[in-house]
Amino acid sequence: MNVSSELLIKIEQAISHYAVSKRSASLPLLHLWQEHYGWISDEAMAWIAEKLEMSPIHVLELVTFYPMFRRLPAGQRHIRVCRTLSCAMAGAYELKEAVAKVAGIDLKEWASHQHGGHGNPIAVSADGKFSVEFVECLASCGSAPVAMVGENLKENVEIAAVADLLQLSRSDATLPKLRPVHPRERRIIFKNIDREGWTTDIECYLNDGGYAELGKALKMPRASIVQEVKASGLRGRGGAGFPCGVKWGFIKQDEKKPVYLICNADESEPGTFKDRYIIHQDPHQILEGMIIACFAVGAKQGYIYVRGEFSEGAEILEKALEEARARNFLGKNILGSGFDCEIYVHRGAGAYICGEETGLIESLEGKRAYPRIKPPYFPAVLGLYQCPTVVNNVETLCNVKHIIKMGGAEYAKIGRPNNTGTRILCVSGDVAKPGYFEVEVGSVTMGELINDLCGGIKDGGALKAVIPGGSSAKVLRAGERYALKTGEIGLEDIPMDFDTLAACGSMAGSGGVIVMDQTRDMVETLNNLNTFYAHESCGQCTPCREGALWMKKITDRVLAGGGTETDPQTLRTVADGIAGKTICSFGEACSWPTQSFVDKFREEFASRSRKLVPPPMPPEYTSEELIEHETIETIEDRRTHSPLAPAATK
Ligand SMILES: Cc1cc2nc3c(=O)[nH]c(=O)nc-3n(C[C@H](O)[C@H](O)[C@H](O)COP(=O)(O)O)c2cc1C
Ligand code: SF4
Ligand code: FES
Repeated sequence: MNVSSELLIKIEQAISHYAVSKRSASLPLLHLWQEHYGWISDEAMAWIAEKLEMSPIHVLELVTFYPMFRRLPAGQRHIRVCRTLSCAMAGAYELKEAVAKVAGIDLKEWASHQHGGHGNPIAVSADGKFSVEFVECLASCGSAPVAMVGENLKENVEIAAVADLLQLSRSDATLPKLRPVHPRERRIIFKNIDREGWTTDIECYLNDGGYAELGKALKMPRASIVQEVKASGLRGRGGAGFPCGVKWGFIKQDEKKPVYLICNADESEPGTFKDRYIIHQDPHQILEGMIIACFAVGAKQGYIYVRGEFSEGAEILEKALEEARARNFLGKNILGSGFDCEIYVHRGAGAYICGEETGLIESLEGKRAYPRIKPPYFPAVLGLYQCPTVVNNVETLCNVKHIIKMGGAEYAKIGRPNNTGTRILCVSGDVAKPGYFEVEVGSVTMGELINDLCGGIKDGGALKAVIPGGSSAKVLRAGERYALKTGEIGLEDIPMDFDTLAACGSMAGSGGVIVMDQTRDMVETLNNLNTFYAHESCGQCTPCREGALWMKKITDRVLAGGGTETDPQTLRTVADGIAGKTICSFGEACSWPTQSFVDKFREEFASRSRKLVPPPMPPEYTSEELIEHETIETIEDRRTHSPLAPAATK
């Protein structure tokens, strides 16, 4: 194959970032190829396989696993419309229809090209100028609905202005919001976000005292940095809330194997949109935290695993890394300390499961993001390339320099005992002023967050439900009471901290708060989430792969008016059959919404589930039919001609 010299240079450079295994360069190479040629042909896969000394099947499995890779060309302008909950609540489904109409794309025609499965196929206009696709949460839920045109993000898309959207030539992603900081906020991590005159240049960061804490840390004994982080009480901001210093302490100070540090910038949990803004507006804060963390745990190599859709963010990080190298904050003998460290950016390609730390590591090794079984594959023991690895979220790592600055004990005074520091809460959905707010952990209640910081429920509506910590967190219903050790409280009295939200039966998770008003249909809401989880299951474990899809299909039919009397209980049973029975905690993440929505809004599910017998099966084969039939009809044939097809599709 004739590959341009320009592309070859980029390819060689990408491969040089992975000294241990060429295979790790497979996702970067696929991205480079697709950016250059628009799609990935069979010949391209064979070429990449040969280049990386891989078997072609291992490249094919990546192209089919990661949704961002295409085996057919898209339109000259490709539009990705986010379909997940906050965007759906803001009209994403109508938006996609409107995009298709203006772009001359016949969605019905393209829907029939989808041979089985439940993915979101790309639909292309007849003249090849445009294509449109539904994608899952783009980590910009506070400005829903959002769409990407090529690599440019458009926030708050107006359906009436879809023609302008198609011509979009610059991204909203880096635009400061120019909104005043709320008096209840305490901005430490977000100090520079939306700040007048602030830029991502290293000079700007240095003029603000940047990298001073790196200089300080490099003069400290490594073990005492870990000690300070332990003393700070900092808990991970990626979802699980695990104490950061304890995690770092798992790495032996005299470890003989190479140690790796990975910054988890995958940010894909629906409802969460904080890391994006740090990446886009304050990349050096992440790098400074990472370099200190690398020094503390003895890692000479770090990676920032950034989600594939953050291509602009990846470029900003690359530029920041170059600036840091030029100033000897990275590279050999950093600031004369004798410490060598290098950090590279690695882009994912659209799969939510890459946020799970062991799935992320597999993905960084150039494989499908199949999470690993723990034990034995705890990253601190057997992580990247089977070596000790620390994985931390962007926001967690940003806290590190502030802990070094103020000392662990002083940091621990912020927030509440066992819930220290600040937290960025991302609020989306039915509030008057959605957005991000950095507050001391537990310093505001749910009611204050919604009514004061977010200006109340929009259009004077009433609160119906809240998902408090990203889409996986169990839903809380307005009017609920929670019996805590300290007494009984209502939903609006819950302080937004890790422990109280857990005691109320949900979780603080990744800080993504999705608010729903009295007009929202809970069956539709759960169906939206179930569609997300069915799409994102990696497929390794049977309960998760099958169960997530079953939960989607059952809520599909309840929503369509075909629910049977047993459906609410079946939903509950399927969810119970997943949680706790899978390799990774995606199993819990996908069951908790169903368990909590069905339990707490049972009347809504029951009133839509009145049929005594189930409607005809979805248009798929039963195993008996597969044996009976000599030829296999296409899904399209079955949808239109099969006696079993639901009436609506005939
Ligand atoms: C399904 C799933 C998705 C996840 N997605 C993310 C993510 O997008 N970003 C993130 O930082 N952590 C995510 N996590 C949590 C990571 O596995 C890991 O706990 C985290 O990166 C550790 O960093 P922390 O200790 O700083 O929070 C996810 C976990 C699961 C089970
Ligand atoms: S629980 Fe789901 S996402 Fe996790 S490994 Fe199993 S199939 Fe994959
Ligand atoms: S950006 Fe659309 S739901 Fe998050």
